[in-house]
Amino acid sequence: MNWTPSRATVEDIPALEALIPLSVRALQAPWYSAAQMEAALGPVFGVDRQLIADGTYYVIRHEGRIVGAGGWSRRKSLFGGDQGRTAPDPELDPAQDPARIRAFFVHPDWARQGIGRCLLTACENAIRAAGFRTVDLVATLAGEPLYAAAGYSVTKRFDIPLSNGLPLPGVQMSKSLGH
Ligand SMILES: CC(C)(COP(=O)(O)OP(=O)(O)OC[C@H]1O[C@@H](n2cnc3c(N)ncnc32)[C@H](O)[C@@H]1OP(=O)(O)O)[C@@H](O)C(=O)NCCC(=O)NCCS
Repeated sequence: MNWTPSRATVEDIPALEALIPLSVRALQAPWYSAAQMEAALGPVFGVDRQLIADGTYYVIRHEGRIVGAGGWSRRKSLFGGDQGRTAPDPELDPAQDPARIRAFFVHPDWARQGIGRCLLTACENAIRAAGFRTVDLVATLAGEPLYAAAGYSVTKRFDIPLSNGLPLPGVQMSKSLGH
C-alpha cells in the first residue's frame, strides 16, 4: 500500500479518541496487562491537542477512515496526552535539543502494513526541515521494534508510574538524523 499522511485537524479528535483505545487494547496486549493499559489510556495514551495546533501531528486515512496517527514535537514533553497539563509545553531549541516523536497509534486491522514506518518517515523529514539534528522518544514495548527497525537506539529503560499504582515499562530511544 502507498500511504499518504496528512496533517491532523481538530475535526479529527473524536476519531483519534476512538482509534487510540482500539490500537492500545489490541496491539499492546502481548506486552501489557489489561490493568496497565486501562490506567494508561488517557494520561499516557491520549490525544495531545498541542501537536495538532502546531501542525506536527499526522493521520493516514483509508476510504475516509483514520487507520493510523502519529507525530513529532518541537516541545519538551516526551509522551502523554494533554489531559492534566496545566502550563504550556515549553518549546525546544533545534540547535541544541532533540525533537520528539510522539503518539503513534495504528488501527489493529491495519497493523504491519507499513503505516507506522510511513508516519515515522514523514515526521523525520519534517523534523530535519525544522532544523533539529537529533530525535528522542519514549516508546512502549509494542512500539520499540518499529523504532529499532528505523535506526533508533535504546538510551534508557524505565517504568512510567500509573494512577492505579502499577508501573508501565517504557523505553527511551534516540536517533541522530545527520545533516
Ligand atoms: C507500534 C505501531 C505504531 C507500529 O505500527 P505498524 O503500522 O504496525 O508498523 P509498520 O507496519 O510500519 O512496521 C514497520 C517495521 O517495524 C517493525 N515492527 C512493527 N511492529 C512490530 C511487531 N509487532 N513485532 C516486530 N516488529 C515490528 C518491523 O520491522 C516492521 O517491518 P516489517 O513489517 O516489514 O517486518 C503499532 O503496533 C501500534 O499502534 N501499537 C499500539 C500503540 C503503541 O504502542 N504505539 C507506540 C507508541 S510509542
